[in-house]
Amino acid sequence: MFDVLVCGSLNVDLLARVGRLPLPGETVLGKALQRLPGGKGLNQAIAAARMGARAAMVGAIGADADGAWLASWLAREGVDGTRLSTRESMTTGLAYVCVADDGENAIVVHGAANTTLTPDDARAAVTTLPPKIALAQLETPIATVAAFFEAARRNGARTILNAAPALTDGRDLLALADVVVLNETELAHYARASSDALIEASLKTYADCAHMLGASTVIVTLGARGALVVNDREFVHHAAPAVEVVDTTGAGDCFCGTLAATLARGATLQAATVDAIRAASLAVTRQGAAPAMPYRHELRE
Ligand code: ATP
Ligand code: RIB
Repeated sequence: MFDVLVCGSLNVDLLARVGRLPLPGETVLGKALQRLPGGKGLNQAIAAARMGARAAMVGAIGADADGAWLASWLAREGVDGTRLSTRESMTTGLAYVCVADDGENAIVVHGAANTTLTPDDARAAVTTLPPKIALAQLETPIATVAAFFEAARRNGARTILNAAPALTDGRDLLALADVVVLNETELAHYARASSDALIEASLKTYADCAHMLGASTVIVTLGARGALVVNDREFVHHAAPAVEVVDTTGAGDCFCGTLAATLARGATLQAATVDAIRAASLAVTRQGAAPAMPYRHELRE
């Protein structure tokens, strides 16, 4: 049995460093360009593996050099990639990532092969690689994630949905997740609140919005403020350590992969959240998404 099975995207990240993010209609000059492995699914699978989980991934890549390169990254990280499908007529997913000097980012994702992952692919992965924890995000089709969670639940797995990016029909999936993880912007989207109202809001305001999602447990990640665990009885805030931020790309992915790996080891949700915050706070001190994921021994150190 696997600890964590991730259903999700694999992208090549073209990461441009800029002084500040461009405004609408503006052109800014880049300072450096890197080609790095990414995609929310791949990032979360690698984060879980580096935390010591037996991790596997179901996803789709193109029949091109990018796809082979991403698959080789998973293999090198010890993530089972036997349920990766190669699409002959598609290119591999690509993300244009702009990272500013203050570590903030803006991303455009070209889903390509990721958009072809089918419900049957997801169900077959659950059957052949049964996990304790099934983890998904929203860069693959909604129907595929729904099938993944339904199959995982039938198999007795716990389901975690990282409801990112914020999608109109993503709300339908919330009821299929035992734990929903999202950031402030995504919370505003799914709770149908104004995002301005949730910037630097009180913890009670976040908890009230989280209750509106109707999910049994919601974790709201709050960047430098850590994260809030909300269920129907209480909300518990865990602070993040103060760090020097280099690049926040993949911070949420690091959080989710670590959370899944730690829950699979039998930790409580609160303890797993504390580990996830510490791991993600380390990840933001490094460049890139997947390459920035910390190892378990680094948390102890
Ligand atoms: P991204 O979309 O950039 O990948 P996100 O918006 O999904 O990230 P955040 O809420 O920004 O997720 O951050 C997730 C976690 O990363 C936080 O809970 C925290 O542990 C860590 N983190 C992010 N930003 C900072 C920061 N400035 N200082 C310390 N920790 C941070
Ligand atoms: O969450 C970060 C990821 O989002 C990047 O690696 C990029 O590929 C997009 O999927």
